Amino acid sequence: MNPPITDPAAPGTATDPRSLRVDGSRLAQRLEVLGEVGSTGDGGCCRLALTAADQAGRDLVVGWMRELGLAVVVDEVGNVVATRPGRRPGPPVMTGSHIDTVRTGGRYDGNLGVLAGLEVLETLTDHEVETEHPMAVAFFTDEEGSRFAPDMLGSLTYVGGLPVDEARAVVGIDGAVLGDELDAIGYAGPARCPGPPPVAFVELHIEQGPVLESEHVTIGAVTEVQGIAWYEITITGQSNHAGTTPIGLRHDPMLAAARITVFVRELCQRLGSQQVGTVGQVELHPNLVNVVPARATLTVDLRNTDAGALRLAEVELWRFCDKVGWEEGVQVAVRDLARFDPVAFDARIIEWVEATARDLGHSVRRLPSGAGHDAQMLARVCPSGMVFVPSVGGVSHHPAEHPDPADLTAGADTLLQTLLGLAGVASMGGRAPDVGWEPALDRPREAQT
Ligand code: GLV
Ligand code: MN
Ligand code: MN
Repeated sequence: MNPPITDPAAPGTATDPRSLRVDGSRLAQRLEVLGEVGSTGDGGCCRLALTAADQAGRDLVVGWMRELGLAVVVDEVGNVVATRPGRRPGPPVMTGSHIDTVRTGGRYDGNLGVLAGLEVLETLTDHEVETEHPMAVAFFTDEEGSRFAPDMLGSLTYVGGLPVDEARAVVGIDGAVLGDELDAIGYAGPARCPGPPPVAFVELHIEQGPVLESEHVTIGAVTEVQGIAWYEITITGQSNHAGTTPIGLRHDPMLAAARITVFVRELCQRLGSQQVGTVGQVELHPNLVNVVPARATLTVDLRNTDAGALRLAEVELWRFCDKVGWEEGVQVAVRDLARFDPVAFDARIIEWVEATARDLGHSVRRLPSGAGHDAQMLARVCPSGMVFVPSVGGVSHHPAEHPDPADLTAGADTLLQTLLGLAGVASMGGRAPDVGWEPALDRPREAQT
């Protein structure tokens, strides 16, 4: 364990790295400025991946990275990694998240993790901290997957889970091709994927759910991310006149879509509270008041922390699609958009986050993540974990999403100290730090927490 935490220090005065704190108002200010890019005018943000708004957000954040003197690298799918050197050469301890949003997103999902990472690096520079390992902050392309499925596409490609040519060929909900959009906004960079594995990866994120707030807990040490399966279901029926076609003779794709939607809710109720399911997108053709539709397309998002239960839910959905197709006399085609098994985070990182938050005087609990995150992809190549802060009202993917300002700072401080422990401290203000500042994962297992 590192030495106990002392009082916060002013720049240039500290000798104990545990006294370092972020500048919460500087972080909040940057979140404000980034939130104005793609602002929806109601407190929210629309920066769907690889749109002009995403480009403007990227340019802003890359500008901040360069102002801090970080070495900025852009890879083939537009992931951006900004590195601050350490005493040792080699891979960095990395943090980061994403800055793309859903169409009706808030200002914190993803953005907090990226800008808190930047704030951590700026704090280290302010206090002349030289870390042992380099430290890096990244933002990954298309985490949301709202425009281009699957979600976490950039980090998946970074870790070698998706070949670059397949990523570039993905067609979005608007018919755009990912590679073309990447070229158009100037973010198809020269660095190759898969990228170099970091020493460790820790992501700060808002919880996006109600658990921490309802239990009055400030910090979540995230244990795992639940499994996810996304499907696009296209139902083709017989389009006809709404007034003249007897009900018994219809082959109505909208009715089949409605039955599938109800089935998803009933399936979740039957499988228990761990199973969630959402029909989030429905499109009809020709979508007119007096025409029985020709085609309905809907998406289904199924998630569960239990891999077996998730698979069972998927099989039940496929079987119901067959049944409804037969009963309604429509064709039902089911296409995979995304599928990821549940991911458990590294036990050492979970313990490290928990101990760090406690040392900082914050209440902390372990919890799983209901949302997908870039950290779950990085977990394939390095010890990874996450820090959560409460979402007010448990609201997310909504313009009203926000954390309490004090929690935001608490989360960023926890991120700072967690990363510092993982990176190790070589010197501070030109002086050697107190004993015990070897990078945490280099220490014998019993001394790591
Ligand atoms: C990403 O935000 C997801 O979990 O849908
Ligand atoms: Mn996110
Ligand atoms: Mn999101």
